[in-house]
Amino acid sequence: MTAQLIDGKEIATKVYDEIKAEVAELKAKHGIVPGLATVLVGENPASQAYVSSKQKRCTEVGFHSIGEHLPADTPQAELEALVQRLNEDPSIHGILVQLPLPSHLDEERVLSLISLEKDVDGFHPINIGRLSMKGREPLFVPCTPAGCIELLDRSGIPIEGAEAVVLGRSNIVGLPVAMLLLHRNATVTICHSRTKDLPATCRGADILVAAVGRPEMVKADWVKPGAAVIDVGINRVDDPTRPRGYRLTGDVDFEAVKEVAGHITPVPGGVGLMTIAMLMQNTLNGAKRAAGLID
Ligand code: GUN
Repeated sequence: MTAQLIDGKEIATKVYDEIKAEVAELKAKHGIVPGLATVLVGENPASQAYVSSKQKRCTEVGFHSIGEHLPADTPQAELEALVQRLNEDPSIHGILVQLPLPSHLDEERVLSLISLEKDVDGFHPINIGRLSMKGREPLFVPCTPAGCIELLDRSGIPIEGAEAVVLGRSNIVGLPVAMLLLHRNATVTICHSRTKDLPATCRGADILVAAVGRPEMVKADWVKPGAAVIDVGINRVDDPTRPRGYRLTGDVDFEAVKEVAGHITPVPGGVGLMTIAMLMQNTLNGAKRAAGLID
């Protein structure tokens, strides 16, 4: 293996240790306990698993947490009333409405009702709008994209002036990570299903972020020697040799690409572990901002 492994577990652990130390200090000096509310609607098993990991992590870092679980047929007005109540709850500094919502609910309207100061997911249209404008600062940035940048920074990979290629243009990862890279003065190309020559475009990247949801799509000859490869994909592929009958794999052909790249994130064990770490960081910042300790 020539590439250096970017170890998400090791980096996330450092972030959690830093957060725990700050929480202890906030409590001791200011009597503040950061609080996160999660809102889950329906019984989607993946969403249930994500929400329960988020709550577990809150307990571990010393946060107060509230878990609201509503039935799948919850009317829009009821969900909106819950969000309003959480907006007004002074013990709560972050509100996370787990996506996707059941299809009868108006997701954009719900997200826009979350107080800007408690939008720890960074999905409020104003926070996204600020992220998409030059010289504006969102109060929060979306967690998975923030995790990608944190991995690059903590691995000493320069972003300014780098050629960055983002594969995928989702609202949750592709678009916001491209904006974050642009804010950090990378030259950014966003690729999607209509991009003409994907391998050639990717080969120009010093930083390649793969977030398309296609197992092992990025091959070794798509990667510039020495590039930093950040794999956001988490795909289940059938594997009868595994006890569960499947294995998890990223959007990057890890075994081949690690022989070419300079740095690479594994799946699992890479970006995935950073999302909740960044959510905890955002919630801590929300609590500090509410107390006037940061802008
Ligand atoms: N569903 C998948 N990723 C996310 C995320 O980062 N936040 C929320 N709220 N829902 C998600």
